[in-house]
Amino acid sequence: MTDLTFRIERNANPAADATVAEVLADPGFGKHFTDHMVIIDWTKDAGWHDARVVPYGPLTFNPASAVFHYGQEIFEGLKAYRHADGSVHTFRPERNGQRLADSAHRLALPQLPVDVFVESVRQLVEIDERWVPAHGENKALYLRPFMIANEDFLGVRAAESVSYLVIACPAGSYFSDPTRPVNIWLEREYSRAGRGGTGAAKCGGNYAASMLPQQIAYEKGCEQVLFLDSCDGAYLEELGGMNVVLVFDDGTVATPASDSILPGITRDSVLQLVEDAGYQVERRRISLDEWREGAASGRIVEAMAVGTAAVITPIGELRSDEFTIANPPVTEESLAMRIRAKLTGIQNGVESDTHGWMLKL
Ligand code: COI
Repeated sequence: MTDLTFRIERNANPAADATVAEVLADPGFGKHFTDHMVIIDWTKDAGWHDARVVPYGPLTFNPASAVFHYGQEIFEGLKAYRHADGSVHTFRPERNGQRLADSAHRLALPQLPVDVFVESVRQLVEIDERWVPAHGENKALYLRPFMIANEDFLGVRAAESVSYLVIACPAGSYFSDPTRPVNIWLEREYSRAGRGGTGAAKCGGNYAASMLPQQIAYEKGCEQVLFLDSCDGAYLEELGGMNVVLVFDDGTVATPASDSILPGITRDSVLQLVEDAGYQVERRRISLDEWREGAASGRIVEAMAVGTAAVITPIGELRSDEFTIANPPVTEESLAMRIRAKLTGIQNGVESDTHGWMLKL
């Protein structure tokens, strides 16, 4: 364990129990935050230091702070779940810690040791445990670790002063009804990321680039946007905030392979469960034409959006100005629904965790 002791400053004005109960009854997503947050600072000279759990609240920044100008920022998303015996568990947190370290490398930020990442999450969940929703309600505590460059300097180079933070919010489902299929707008003009760019890193800039296309998708009556590769504009990449998975009638399940998409931890877990269920998993290039032809011929029988926030949500239609791909209606027997039940069962402690994914906090 990396030698870093957390100082704890308790919130003197925590939310009233009645307020917490009201939030937990209908948390939505990303709207209500817990009583505390974690901060760990880094400087080039001192390395990681001053790890602390402090009251949740505004931060003070110099307007010249690097993050405001060049977007040197990365983040993660993971959840803590309440099991039937009241204990609280996270799902594969070391994978998020490793991905944060990989994102840090790409954005020239310092790498936080994975054990410190896991401990930071544990510290926040421990102090704000009453914010973890009850077992059996399809809710969880969403944790948002992030790292920002905060050196007050306008030159374009990697900042020499950085902070890592963790905040948390109780979360229901990301989409209004998690079992209702979402419709996706096919983005033709804008790319999310280019070859050699930051597409595989979880950095704010990628999401900033997706906002305008996402806005267009909403205007077209769709919940998400699908990006194609930036070189040929022909191959599937990912959705605005989640990965995409297709199911074929011969028992094959395929997901796009590309160095400009996010290596999804939920996607990786879904594919493992799909493999356990006897399906053949392919990580490969998938062209839009293959999806169109496969859907038309009945060879492609399902499509799903997968991510920490979205969990597994079936895709109803892929819409564009030229054509619409409509997937068959979703039933209890659809793979998306079966794997969703299995994955959320493991996360909530009602299915056995055969892969050792859960960490008790
Ligand atoms: C997550 O799934 O955790 C994300 O960061 C994506 C965002 C759409 C909430």
